[in-house]
Amino acid sequence: MTTTYRLAMIGFGNVGQGLAEILSRRAAELAAQSGVAFQIVAVCTHSRGSIYNPDGLDAAQLLKSARAGDRFETLDAPHSGWDAPRIIRESNADVIVEISYTDLQTGQPALDYIRQALTAGKHVVTANKGPTALHYPELRRLARENRVSIGVEGTVLSGTPALHLGLSALASAGITRVQGILNGTTNYILTQMENGATYADALAQAQANGYAEADPSGDVDGHDAAAKVVIIANLLLDLPLTLADVRCKGISHITQHDIESAKAAGERWKLIGLVEKRDDDFTASVQPVRLPLAHPLASVGGATNAITYTTDLLGDVTLIGAGAGRVETGYGLLADLLAIHRGHTTHENL
Ligand code: HSE
Repeated sequence: MTTTYRLAMIGFGNVGQGLAEILSRRAAELAAQSGVAFQIVAVCTHSRGSIYNPDGLDAAQLLKSARAGDRFETLDAPHSGWDAPRIIRESNADVIVEISYTDLQTGQPALDYIRQALTAGKHVVTANKGPTALHYPELRRLARENRVSIGVEGTVLSGTPALHLGLSALASAGITRVQGILNGTTNYILTQMENGATYADALAQAQANGYAEADPSGDVDGHDAAAKVVIIANLLLDLPLTLADVRCKGISHITQHDIESAKAAGERWKLIGLVEKRDDDFTASVQPVRLPLAHPLASVGGATNAITYTTDLLGDVTLIGAGAGRVETGYGLLADLLAIHRGHTTHENL
């Protein structure tokens, strides 16, 4: 027997298109492996309009239209022009996939969309770091009160299962500290500078490759990594931190001379996000650190991310994988959709 979930997608940029690609490419495997089907019923965008068909939209047509830059209203559907609150309120979607743009200052408008969806009794999956880093404890409470789930796997290490792993297999090992390379753009820049590129060229390339945020100052100043530190602290260490609790320094001051002197000493610069829990206290920071080449995080180059969990029972466990990308982040959303199907969420032990 196959269970079908209807999805409304708020936003249809890279990540939304990544999820749509996965759903159309892997529909047969999802049905066979997990007995589940996902049907996109609504798409709502800021710049290219919105459509809604309670009987389902064709993912391939949505992708074609998005790639051509067409407005979605040109597709055949019974309803068009609905804004996000109306889709959340009046559509027949079971899950709201919130992937509108990220605002790390206010979390808006995504924050209100997520609040509305949870209050209306709809599950939410999101890769949006703004509302998650700023208001996760409130959103988790809202989800619990309304007996629905909120999944945020795609916010940290894209689809690499950093949050699910910490919440499931490693939870009972007693995680006390998490540190890692949590931002692909800065790791790419540092790696390219080590290979002789200038800071400006390396940043331009990271933008061209699609890792950087629309405003890359969030990457290079360390704020994107700090948002991920807060999310990790909230979910994996149950620490109610906010962005203000994270001591944050980026990489924009690092010169070619700094890179060369680290190299000469057998070391390598990495932007490290860290959160550690101690009795009644904690440390949370993002800062560039010179690591000896033998350190497990030193060999992680390019846009790849990595996370090391320090646990009471297993010592250190390190996970290395993609930290950004359309299909990679789309996979994070799929992991949360499957967790909802299994009756689990990223805020409860799996
Ligand atoms: N700009 C982010 C990065 C994207 O470079 O890691 C993924 O969160």
